[in-house]
Amino acid sequence: MRVQSIRGMNDLLPSDTELWQSVEDVIRDVSELYGYQEIRLPLLERTELFKRSIGEETDIVEKEMYTFLDNRGESLTLRPEATASCIRAAIEHSLINRSKAKLWYMGPMFRYERPQKGRYRQFHQYGIEAFGWTTPDIDAEIIMVAHMLWRKLDIAQHTTLEINSIGSPTSRQNFRTDLVAYFDKYRSSLDEDSARRLSTNPLRILDSKNPHMQDLINNAPVMTEYLDEDSQRHFERLCVFLGSQDIEFKLNHRLVRGLDYYTDTVFEWTTDLLGAQNAICGGGRYDGLVELLGGGAVAGAGFALGLERLIEVLKHSRFEFQPVNPQVYLCVLGDDAEVEGLRVAQQLRTAGISAIVHCGGGKLSQQLKSADRANSLLGVIIGASEIERRTAIIKPLRQDLAQQSVALDDVVDNIREMLNSTG
Ligand code: HAM
Repeated sequence: MRVQSIRGMNDLLPSDTELWQSVEDVIRDVSELYGYQEIRLPLLERTELFKRSIGEETDIVEKEMYTFLDNRGESLTLRPEATASCIRAAIEHSLINRSKAKLWYMGPMFRYERPQKGRYRQFHQYGIEAFGWTTPDIDAEIIMVAHMLWRKLDIAQHTTLEINSIGSPTSRQNFRTDLVAYFDKYRSSLDEDSARRLSTNPLRILDSKNPHMQDLINNAPVMTEYLDEDSQRHFERLCVFLGSQDIEFKLNHRLVRGLDYYTDTVFEWTTDLLGAQNAICGGGRYDGLVELLGGGAVAGAGFALGLERLIEVLKHSRFEFQPVNPQVYLCVLGDDAEVEGLRVAQQLRTAGISAIVHCGGGKLSQQLKSADRANSLLGVIIGASEIERRTAIIKPLRQDLAQQSVALDDVVDNIREMLNSTG
């Protein structure tokens, strides 16, 4: 019996890893352009960390966490997101006690969701978190980081930004009271999920996709009308900043996000290139969270994007991915040529040129076929007569150019020149 992978947990195959790596490179570059520093966090944390931060009455904590007891009976959870972990680490290592910090992370997250296209149980996120700024300029900067990524990846035209303000905890409490009163009047029209949320997490009713609920939701009280003066000013400034950057956005009064820690700004980027799971990036401000997790009164804001979804967007867009081919394939015929081939290949690699030596012997035609399959740019052929004359043949494999014979000791210099001239 074969052992199969776990549902919703994907292998990333070599045919895709180059694309992932090139996206990861762009992500690293963009993070650095904005002054964010990488932080690497454990995949496992104490369960309490996520319960306290994401909220006991959210889908994630209620039903999506991979939680287990370790050998000593301690409850641990595979991280469903990394904002909480990032704050835990920043507090623990005094990164944000007296100073501000801009951090980014990338890696796998785990949620026990119903797997479907674009929704997995192990998926990858890239996220940024900025600690120490209460002002809306940082909210704008965070959104600009994502926008810069879309531009670098040539998908900006396929993305839409939606923003909302969910205000301070006090104004949200007033809104919540009125919202509950409103939905309570129509209790019989609520679907099962929303009826349950009425007592646990009523704001999430606004998120419902049930077509029968839409009229009811459209007529519900609107959060932005409950904002206090500070929150209102904060939100207006953010809109000014985004406008000045020519970043288009839609106001979505129903955007509440699925995690409880947000205050004031929340936002989501969606794309027209994916089906149902079209949210590629989400985030916002979380001013009370650091304190809730035992740190000081440090403001925070950030976002995370789903890498699987982003990669899928790239596959459907005009983003031109240039795979890095192995540049040189060495065909070696005979005992002495095998020895010489290993030596030349090692010299090439030392010079920063990737090289594959044909292993396992075989006829020249077979070896050239393997070179072709490996997508190599150049072949180097060393046979018995080349060994005798201390030469090698360099054969262009992707261009219609003549092969040439060069001294064995000059192979690296010649190849370097040829690669430079073909760019
Ligand atoms: P989130 O909206 O839960 O936010 O996740 C962010 C992104 O992760 C989503 O927009 C989506 O692209 C991707 N994602 C989420 N769940 C899955 C899944 N099951 N399969 C594939 N992709 C998925 C957060 O996680 C917050 N920590 C974001 C944040 C950072 N807020 C402030 N700082």
